[in-house]
Amino acid sequence: MISSKTGVKMAQQGSIVITIDGPAGAGKSTLSKKLAHELGFLVLDSGAIYRAMALALLGAGVSTDSVGIPKETLDKISIRVEPCETLMRIFLDDVELKDEIREEYVGLAASRFAALPEVRESLLAIQRDVARSWNIVAEGRDMGNVVFPNAFIKLFITADIGERAKRRYTELMMRGDNPYYSVVLSEMRARDSRDESRKTAPLVAATDSTIIDTTHLTPESALKIMLQLIEDKYDFDQYQTNS
Ligand code: DC
Repeated sequence: MISSKTGVKMAQQGSIVITIDGPAGAGKSTLSKKLAHELGFLVLDSGAIYRAMALALLGAGVSTDSVGIPKETLDKISIRVEPCETLMRIFLDDVELKDEIREEYVGLAASRFAALPEVRESLLAIQRDVARSWNIVAEGRDMGNVVFPNAFIKLFITADIGERAKRRYTELMMRGDNPYYSVVLSEMRARDSRDESRKTAPLVAATDSTIIDTTHLTPESALKIMLQLIEDKYDFDQYQTNS
């Protein structure tokens, strides 16, 4: 059995990476957190890193329509992450970012800037560095295909676009916003298409990933499936001590 742990543990002999990719609203974030908590791994929330980058670029006056970003601009941006139990804290110029990166406009800007290869390249090291010290559940769009091609296990979480938009709409309502469902749906469609069609690291399931469709699943049943997959495939404790 995989044992539950309460806090994140330093990787002992080479870290274990579990990747979870998929489109917005599929449940990646909730499931990554639950899985990381179960395993005592750290969540690498790569979307938060792209969002922090978007905030930094917007703050530097860079337009989301830019077709290229100078290296000097990217070099000046300082993003740092550190663990807090199994969750990830993120800092921009040593100031911790919290709710501000969850705003819709930041997600949309992140999706636009993320299409630029130089932006993606500039964020590779920070993501891989995290895996040097910690066992991680890496969540994003290109974790299995690009950032961690040799991951221990790769999962791709998806759901019908209508269901994903409904979840996002409910989340925004709970936050006190007053969105139109049709706007949430069309923005999600546009984001999907941008994330899937960009030339560099498009959102696509890795050929060696297991696809989990959460349209009709509760987070608890999806988590059960994930834990079962991990258990069926590997002797987890063995891997940790012998790798
Ligand atoms: O997962 P999220 O909604 O927080 O991500 C925001 C945007 O960042 C997403 O639309 C695309 C981009 N992103 C990416 O291109 N690659 C990742 N690994 C993570 C996010």
